[in-house]
Amino acid sequence: MFEQKSTRSHFIKHFLTGFGVTVILSACDISGNNSGTTSSNGNSSTTAKPAGQTATVGKTIKVATEPSFPPFESKGSTGELVGFDIDLIKAVGQAAGMTVEFQSLPFDGMIPALQANTIDAAVSAMTITPERAQTISFSRPYFKAGLAIAVRQDNTTITNLDSLKNKKIAAQIGTTGAKKAKSITNAQVREFDSAPLALQELANGNVDAVINDGPVTLEAINSGNIKGLKVVGQLITEEYYGIALPKNSPNLNAINTALTKIISDGTYAQIYKKWFGTEPPQLPETPPASTS
Ligand code: ARG
Repeated sequence: MFEQKSTRSHFIKHFLTGFGVTVILSACDISGNNSGTTSSNGNSSTTAKPAGQTATVGKTIKVATEPSFPPFESKGSTGELVGFDIDLIKAVGQAAGMTVEFQSLPFDGMIPALQANTIDAAVSAMTITPERAQTISFSRPYFKAGLAIAVRQDNTTITNLDSLKNKKIAAQIGTTGAKKAKSITNAQVREFDSAPLALQELANGNVDAVINDGPVTLEAINSGNIKGLKVVGQLITEEYYGIALPKNSPNLNAINTALTKIISDGTYAQIYKKWFGTEPPQLPETPPASTS
């Protein structure tokens, strides 16, 4: 179900270079601020407004992502950003009359950057949680996901959350997966800058399991980018991704209106089918209260 057609050769590259690539990219992108060079519709020079204005048609918004999380965000063969989230935010920007300018950031740097207002939004498969919603604002949910447990193929003892007690677990730093891992009795949690690095640590035999977003772990396994792993049991959480914004951002309404528009006019379904090969499930307008 989570097979995708787009290029994945650079996934491996992210493994090897990991955080370094993100930092270099982020530096490049910062130097290109407001230049419109990474704009999604290429007309920022005619539509861009000075920074600090409230949401108006033609505004440029700076959107952060951590691009080692396919099929949501990764780098294509020429280094360009590709993925479900990338197509989604471009479509949202177009519907809202905003030009999207991307900036790569480490995942655990996104909430601080939103709080400092150095970025206008983050689209990075970020789960809407009550805890995060105290310091930042989220759009309506745009994707239903959940955490999965991955182990090595020959492991028969870890079958569910309960059997992770006293185990070594890897996860990406700052994620809901890392938080879940830390809640397990006597688990030793090792945090990595990216999900591929955590999965590679498992493949190398250095930890017993990885807790990470299910669609991303399945994509890593199904694409052949990580060998010798399997997912066990059911998803252990139900999570919804949202576009993250600074608390009470003036762009929140425009982004929600645009999301609702692309969901109802079929654009969302088209993007979903491109990356997941199936019709999208019905999305709630707000995340169910029970979700972590
Ligand atoms: N959904 C998880 C969370 O919000 C993980 C997201 C990680 N995203 C990324 N692009 N690395 O914590």
